[in-house]
Amino acid sequence: MSRNDPSVIERERDFHNARFTDENRLAQGKYYFAIRDCDDEYERLLLQYGRDAVVLDYGCALGEYALRLAPVAKAVHGIDISDVAIETARAEAKAKGLTNAHFDVMDAHATSFPDNHFDFVFGIGIIHHLETRRSFAEIARVLKPGGVAVFREPLSGNVLIDLYRKATPAARTVDEHPLTAADYKLAGEFFTRNDWRFYGLVTPGSVPFRNTPAGVPLFNLAAAVDRALFTIPPMRWQAWNALMTLGK
Ligand SMILES: C[S@@+](CC[C@H](N)C(=O)[O-])C[C@H]1O[C@@H](n2cnc3c(N)ncnc32)[C@H](O)[C@@H]1O
Repeated sequence: MSRNDPSVIERERDFHNARFTDENRLAQGKYYFAIRDCDDEYERLLLQYGRDAVVLDYGCALGEYALRLAPVAKAVHGIDISDVAIETARAEAKAKGLTNAHFDVMDAHATSFPDNHFDFVFGIGIIHHLETRRSFAEIARVLKPGGVAVFREPLSGNVLIDLYRKATPAARTVDEHPLTAADYKLAGEFFTRNDWRFYGLVTPGSVPFRNTPAGVPLFNLAAAVDRALFTIPPMRWQAWNALMTLGK
């Protein structure tokens, strides 16, 4: 089935609507201990590029990052296909009195924003839910010249991680596709800057220790090993996640 098929969009909406009403949805959150350095860097980049900027949280879900950025940004827009998530984000913005934060249900492949509108576009785990070429084209279209986009996305290619995904189908949509070296190459067709940094090869080994005093030291050691391994280019595609910085 083509990824452009409208049923893909409907399946994504229904899956995520159910997820955002499921109180157990954070059960797999423990694994993100393994990419805490990636998330720290993501948040640093959000503050660096989002300050005083017109920004788009692309696939914003509950708008966690958009809401955090709103107090320092010029204007924040969040879009998602899940109406349940967008309603929650809007209610949260209203409760916080954030009048510069706007949330809309929209298909990320074809948004209603004008060309060259945003200084900064960002997102976590969204591009691998989309048709990659259309998604990169749309991000490039709405970014101003000189604008920057930052994404954290999962990668495919590590046999153990891919086996884990196969063993836990309920945690993901049937249409999602962790990114590959082909997607990296494709991004280069749309963006003048295409920097990907890689995270989470040895570090998942520290997850079982995350609630013990050894957790953080073990993570730091594993992260240093990962950084050394990722100096060997083929090893980068064994990583769990990439942090992508794209520029127009
Ligand atoms: C893995 S979640 C990540 C959400 C959010 N960035 C976060 O970190 O919590 C993927 C999100 O993509 C949204 N999504 C999937 N397909 C979409 C589409 N075609 N247009 C807009 N959002 C979409 C889902 O509803 C979901 O909120």
